Amino acid sequence: SCSRLVLGIETSCDDTGAAVMDETGTILGESLHSQKEVHLRSGGIIPTVAQQLHRENIERVVQEALERSGVTPAELCAVATTVKPGLALSLGVGLQFSQRFVREHNKPFIPIHHMEAHALTVRMLHPLTFPFLVLLVSGGHSLLAVARGVGDFLLLGHTLDEAPGDTLDKVARRLSLRKHPQCFTLSGGQAIELLAKDGDRKRFGFRTPMGQTPDCCFSFAGLRNQITMLIKKKEAEEGVEEGTLLSCVNDIAAATQHTVALHLAKRTHRAALFCKANNLLPSDNPTLVLSGGVASNQYIRKALMIITEVTGLRLLCPPAKFCTDNGVMIAWNGVERLREGNGILPPDVDVSYEPK
Ligand code: KG4
Ligand code: ZN
Repeated sequence: SCSRLVLGIETSCDDTGAAVMDETGTILGESLHSQKEVHLRSGGIIPTVAQQLHRENIERVVQEALERSGVTPAELCAVATTVKPGLALSLGVGLQFSQRFVREHNKPFIPIHHMEAHALTVRMLHPLTFPFLVLLVSGGHSLLAVARGVGDFLLLGHTLDEAPGDTLDKVARRLSLRKHPQCFTLSGGQAIELLAKDGDRKRFGFRTPMGQTPDCCFSFAGLRNQITMLIKKKEAEEGVEEGTLLSCVNDIAAATQHTVALHLAKRTHRAALFCKANNLLPSDNPTLVLSGGVASNQYIRKALMIITEVTGLRLLCPPAKFCTDNGVMIAWNGVERLREGNGILPPDVDVSYEPK
């Protein structure tokens, strides 16, 4: 075939990912190494540890993606790599590797914005045209934007403090959810979703953040403070040590998940109304795209489904494996750029270059 082939590389946080894709969006080969278990054990991502693990795995992950695709480096049309945003030490490993690779094989380089990749992933799977509304929720980000084109986003709101995945991870750590056998290998967000299933979300009421602020921004630090205060109070009442609460963990998980979902839903509702009032979305099939690691949460998906129903939008959400970080979404963003002939740099470029 004469379809152009792209190698995508992702190392912005704690996943080392690579994928080879053709111009139609068909995945020819992929590989993903997750550092999740190491970081769960140490109670959070230590950047130097993440960097070391990326270094140990990147060569093999890229090699695997290439081998599984049956594509040789010489057959590639371009290499696309995440250049921002993310942990500088993690990003650096992918950047250095890519810089060496594109020079050695004389291939054009496509710098990728990690959030643009999350936002565009759904176009690999669904026929979706611009513009559309997008809510991205992960361990590092929380944002609402109108995607008007590849590399053309109108930012409507962002988090003022921490991201929702970070909040869920920290609450899970504060409750020592890893001590629950069924949560041992789960991320904080996954553990809270699982325990919330057997919880009463109404037993504890948390205030929904930013009730008096008429914009589309997010805040989770205040909510986390409310949750921590409740946990401390319950630990004192039961006379147990920090992180050993047993009796109401499910109810706390349920209330936490509910309040995060409600906050995301309310801000998205406002954004949808704003888009409608200002004709920012097509009247034919207006769409909300929900993605990022936290978007794999079924309770949060349902909350957003209610919002899309009342505002007359269609909800599109990639399957969980494409919501979390991976090399495929980076390769796809490379394909999107290649199709537009936009943002493609020569092999000898300094790859610390950042796209706007
Ligand atoms: O997109 P992602 O893989 O990496 C970042 O770019 O941050 O997202 C990871 C985040 C973690 O904070 C994790 O707790 C959260 O996504 N997460 C979830 C679920 N699965 C992963 N949060 C809520 N419910 C889930 N099922
Ligand atoms: Zn991400």
